[in-house]
This record gives sequence, C-alpha cells and structure tokens, in this order.
Amino acid sequence: MNDFGSPKSYYLHTFGCQMNENDSEKLAGILESAGFVESKKRKDADLIIFNTCCVRENAEKKFYGHLGALKNLKIENPDLVIAVCGCMMNQESAAAHILKTYKHVDIIFGNNNQHKFLDMLHRVYTDRRTIYETDAGETTITETVDFKRKYPMKAFVTVMYGCNNFCSYCIVPYVRGRERSRTPEGILAEIGKLASEGCKEIMVLGQNVNSYGKDLTPEITFSDLLDEICKIDGIERIRFLTSHPKDISEQLMKVIASQPKICNHLHLPIQSGSTKVLKEMIRGYTKEQFVEIIKKLKTLNPGIALTTDIIVGFPGETEEDFAQTLEVLETVRFDSAFMFLYSRRTGTPAANREDQVTEDVAMKRFEKLLEVQNYICKEKNDPLLGTTQKVLVESHSKSDKSLFSGRTDSNKVVNFPGNKDLIGKIIDVKIEKVQTWSLEGSVAGGEK
Ligand code: SAH
Ligand code: SF4
Ligand code: F3S
Repeated sequence: MNDFGSPKSYYLHTFGCQMNENDSEKLAGILESAGFVESKKRKDADLIIFNTCCVRENAEKKFYGHLGALKNLKIENPDLVIAVCGCMMNQESAAAHILKTYKHVDIIFGNNNQHKFLDMLHRVYTDRRTIYETDAGETTITETVDFKRKYPMKAFVTVMYGCNNFCSYCIVPYVRGRERSRTPEGILAEIGKLASEGCKEIMVLGQNVNSYGKDLTPEITFSDLLDEICKIDGIERIRFLTSHPKDISEQLMKVIASQPKICNHLHLPIQSGSTKVLKEMIRGYTKEQFVEIIKKLKTLNPGIALTTDIIVGFPGETEEDFAQTLEVLETVRFDSAFMFLYSRRTGTPAANREDQVTEDVAMKRFEKLLEVQNYICKEKNDPLLGTTQKVLVESHSKSDKSLFSGRTDSNKVVNFPGNKDLIGKIIDVKIEKVQTWSLEGSVAGGEK
C-alpha cells in the first residue's frame, strides 16, 4: 500500500557523521513505512533527499555540487520531488541561499522535524509549493520508528541529541541544539529488538556521550547505561562515540575494563596538543590533563586502542603550538586519527578572529601531521602480524570484491578471502599482512 497513490521510489544521500547516517536510517524507515521503495540510482527516483552536514566547508561544497547537478534532472522530470534536510538546513543563511538560488528544491527541513516529513511530502504532492520548515527549538524525539538499517549485524543507536559545549570552532551546537538524552527504556527496547533480529554490534552515538543522562530524572550515568546494554543477550560488541575528554569518568574507564562486551577501544578527540590553543578552543582540559587521562586509561585497560580527532590551523596557532601537537602524538601514540584543516564557520567565535592561519601554512602543517600519524598507525599495527583476531564479518571488501571485510575489537579493518556465509559472524582471522589503514589475513577457524 502506498499513501502517495502510485508506487514511489526514493534516493537518499547522507553527508556528515554517524549521527546523520542514523537520522537517515530513520528517515528511510519513515518513507518505507509509507510505501516508498529505495532506488539505487538517483536518476530513477521520484524523490531525492540530501541529508546535509555543515561541520566543515568541504562538506557544504560537496552538497552544493550534488544539488546543482539535480537541476537538469528536474527539467527532464518535473514530477521529481527534491528535499534537503539535516544540519546545514538549521542555518538560516544556508536555507535562504537555497530558496533563492536552487529553485528546483521542493522541501527544506531541519534535524528536529523529521517526524513531520510525510506530512510535508503530502503537502508538496498536493499543491507543489516549496516548503521550508526548520524548527531548531523542537525537541520531540520520535521513538516509534522502524529504522532501515544499513547492516543486519551492526547498528547505530543514538542515545542523545545536541551538544552543550560550544567549542569555539564548532557549528554543531548551533544546528543541533542543546543536549537531550533518550530514556534508558527507549534505548534498551531498541537494542533488545535489534538483538532479537540478529544484530551483534551496537555503536552508541551522541556528540558527548559522557554527559548522557544528566538531563533525565532520575539521573543515570553513561556507564550505568552501558552496564544495562551489556545485559542484553545476543549483543556481543558495544562501541561508543564520542567521549569528550573533559567529561570522562573513572567509572567509564572501569566499565570498559570490566565488561567484556565493551570493545577495548576509545575515541577521544584531543583537537590540539597546545594548552594555549585548547583554552582558546574552549575544550576544558590542558595537554597535561589529556596525557594523564590516557595514562590512567592504559593502566586500567592494557592494550586499549585509542583514536582521536585533530584540527590543524586553528586561529592563532603558532609553529610552537603545532610542535606540541606533534609531540603529543608521539607521547600518546594513537592507533589512528581523523585530521582536519580548520574550517571557518560563520557564527562561531573562532571565525571572528583576525589571526586566521593562512591556507599555505595550515596545509604544510597538515601534511606533516599526516606523515607523523601515518607512521605511528603503521607502527601500532605491526605487532598484530601473526596474531589471531576476532573479526565481525561485515561485507565484501570495498577495495577488492574477491575479499571479505570485517573489524577487530579494536575497530581495525581486516580483509580476507572467505565466503558469504561468514557475513554477520564473529570469526578468528590470522593476520598475515599489516598496512597503515588495514590488515589482511585468512580465516583461522574457530567460528563463534
Ligand atoms: N562531538 C565530537 C565531535 C563532533 S564533530 C567531539 O567533540 O569530539 C567531529 C570533529 O570535527 C571534531 O572532533 C573536530 O575535530 C572536527 N571539527 C569540528 N568543527 C571543525 C571546524 N570548524 N574545522 C575543522 N574541523 C572541525
Ligand atoms: Fe562540537 Fe565541541 Fe560539541 Fe564536539 S563537543 S560537537 S566539537 S561543540
Ligand atoms: Fe554531524 Fe555534520 Fe551535523 S558532523 S552533527 S552532520 S554538522
């Protein structure tokens, strides 16, 4: 049955982080519950949706490139409906620009009014007038949607929305609003259902999961929530993103150690190794405090894999500041790092600074950072050669279709020859080759 008359297909393209991916899974679920079917090809779809990101300029540029390309499609097929949503649409200036310049767009909506999407579609199909509805103040959390998940064996579960931190470079708090935690009941019901459908790995999501539950009555800590998730039969691996260093608790470090289902991996964004820059970023910790946290983590969780985010070229960053970032990388030795060139986001305090770092200088530092971190990545992977790792098999390998691909407990990608029956299982893989970004091996038996 289709609520929209004839059968309709949709094509959904997501930019940005895992939380946006998860929002898209919800949108796809909403659409399919109304009878839409997914179209693999953009040009064949009756409805095209872009879920946008504005954390850095290049995410916006990519989106505009894709959006411009739809102009011709709309001319060829005037019945095509184009919707754009997500973080970028919660910036009035971006939405206004789209309304003015991209007249082929039919619907503009934000993160917080996803649950009204079907209603907006009905209105567009009825009178074809452009709809613009972003409601940054809206705080409804829709609990009753069947997500359309990308994988059956692993799933994203967003446990809180928004961010209260206002790091001086970051646009997220402006477009995602304040922190709102879902209730533990809602979260546990969702994960229980996933487990009953055969899901094995949960990626718990929030901009700052360490402050989960502070807004709930009764209060509950993130570690308590993890303890509860661990009790769900069938779930074998639990990961979470993102932990803010200023809010990490000893309780959390201990829960990682004591709960075998929680992966021995932590993503802890440092952003910079200079205490001066960290202060100006309003991160709430010094370089020394960060190093101390890592020391404690490594003591409580021997062998823990650590990953991070780093920004290069924050306003006022000097060679000396940058040297401190390199120094911290050498001290901590992250297993891998997401490295970003600072991107000036209008509306954030850092964007107004006059001491912006020139592109040339930032680029040189970025290249140096890549060189140092890549070397460390490889060094961290080297000892895995010859070991046997438990791997959750996800799919065919993206780079080589004859291989299969999965992840270790420490979140490293492993490619190996196998067969389709292994997908969704946790198997032993013997590591035979070690690279900077991935590992290669062969199935060692011992299927779980
Ligand atoms: N809430 C998470 C991060 C969300 S954004 C946290 O605080 O760790 C993901 C990453 O994008 C950030 O960690 C940061 O490294 C990067 N980022 C955010 N704003 C940026 C900007 N204006 N320019 C470059 N990188 C940015
Ligand atoms: Fe952005 Fe900071 Fe919030 Fe992360 S904690 S989303 S970097 S403001
Ligand atoms: Fe994520 Fe980008 Fe929004 S990083 S929270 S999709 S601005």
